[in-house]
Amino acid sequence: MIAITGANGNLGKATIHFLLKKVPPTDIIAIVRNPEKLTGSHIENVKIRKADYNNRVELEKALKGVTTLLQISATSTGETGRQQEKNVVLAAKAAGVKRIVYTSSLKPKSNAHFLATHQAMATEQEILQSGLAYIFLRNSLYMEVIPGLIGSTIETKEIRYPSGDGRVSFVSRLDIAEALASILIGCEHDNQIYEITGDTAYSFAELAQLITEEKSDIKINHTDISEKIFREELTNYQMPSDVVDLLASMASGIKYNEFSYTDKTLERILHRKPLALAEYIKSL
Ligand SMILES: NC(=O)c1ccc[n+]([C@@H]2O[C@H](COP(=O)([O-])OP(=O)(O)OC[C@H]3O[C@@H](n4cnc5c(N)ncnc54)[C@H](OP(=O)(O)O)[C@@H]3O)[C@@H](O)[C@H]2O)c1
Repeated sequence: MIAITGANGNLGKATIHFLLKKVPPTDIIAIVRNPEKLTGSHIENVKIRKADYNNRVELEKALKGVTTLLQISATSTGETGRQQEKNVVLAAKAAGVKRIVYTSSLKPKSNAHFLATHQAMATEQEILQSGLAYIFLRNSLYMEVIPGLIGSTIETKEIRYPSGDGRVSFVSRLDIAEALASILIGCEHDNQIYEITGDTAYSFAELAQLITEEKSDIKINHTDISEKIFREELTNYQMPSDVVDLLASMASGIKYNEFSYTDKTLERILHRKPLALAEYIKSL
C-alpha cells in the first residue's frame, strides 16, 4: 500500500496521476487535511484518509497498513514546518511504514541561504534516525514557479529579481511526479539520495533571453534589484512577513548558486530527457 501526503497539492495530484498507470487505485491512499477539497477524475477509487500535519494521532491512524509513504515537504516554514514534517516521520515509524520517499532540497548545506533547505535537512535527519528505508529526492526549483517569480514580465519587458548572476537548474514538477511514481512502486531505490534537476542551469538574464526568444518580439531584460527593494516591493503587495522572508531567502539562494547544480539522475529514472526550459516557456 502506497500513501501520499499533500495529496491535494500540485505534486501530490500529479504523482497520483502517474501512479494510477502502474498500480490499481485501491493500492493508493491519498492523505489530505480537507477530503472535501479532493475532487477530480484522477482520484476515483483511490482511498482517501484525513490527517493534518499538526495532528500526530490523525497521521498515525492514516498511515496504518502503509508500506511506502511519499512524504511531500510541508508548505509551512519555521518551527511549525519543522514540527509538521517531524510529526509525519514519527507517525510513519509508529504506524509500521517500511519506507519513506521524501521531497527534499537540492544539495542541502548548513550555511544555505534558502530557509526551506534547513527544514529539509532537519527532516532528512529525522528520517535517517527513524531507521526506516529512505529515498530523498532533492529537487531543484520547479519550472512552474517561474510565472510567480517573473510576474507581468511580458507586459513590463523586465524581470525585477535580486538573483545576481546565480543560475537555476529549473525542473518540471510533472517530470518529478513521473519519477516519483516509478520510485514508489519498487524497493530498488531504497536508501538512495537523488539530486533532481533540469539538464541546464540558467541565470535570470538567460531566462529573460529565453522568454524574449519564445514569447516576445521586444527584448526582455533582467534587472538585478537589491534584496532591500525586493522586500519592500513584496511587502507593498501585502505579503505576510514570513512569506517575504522565504521568498527573499530563495532569491538569495539563487544568487549564491544553491540551485545551479545539474545532474542526470532524473533522465535515468524517466528513461528520457526531462522537459527543457525552452519547451516550458513556449507552453506558457
Ligand atoms: N522546488 C520548488 O520549486 C518548490 C516550490 C514550491 C513548493 N515546494 C515544496 O514542494 C511541496 C509540493 O509542492 P506543490 O506544488 O505540490 O505544493 P502545493 O500545491 O502548495 O501543495 C501543498 C499541499 O500541502 C497540503 N498541506 C498544507 N498544510 C497542511 C497541513 N497542515 N496538513 C496537511 N496537509 C497540508 C495542502 O493541503 P490543502 O490542499 O488542504 O491546502 C496542499 O495540498 C510544497 O509543499 C513545498 O514544500 C517546492
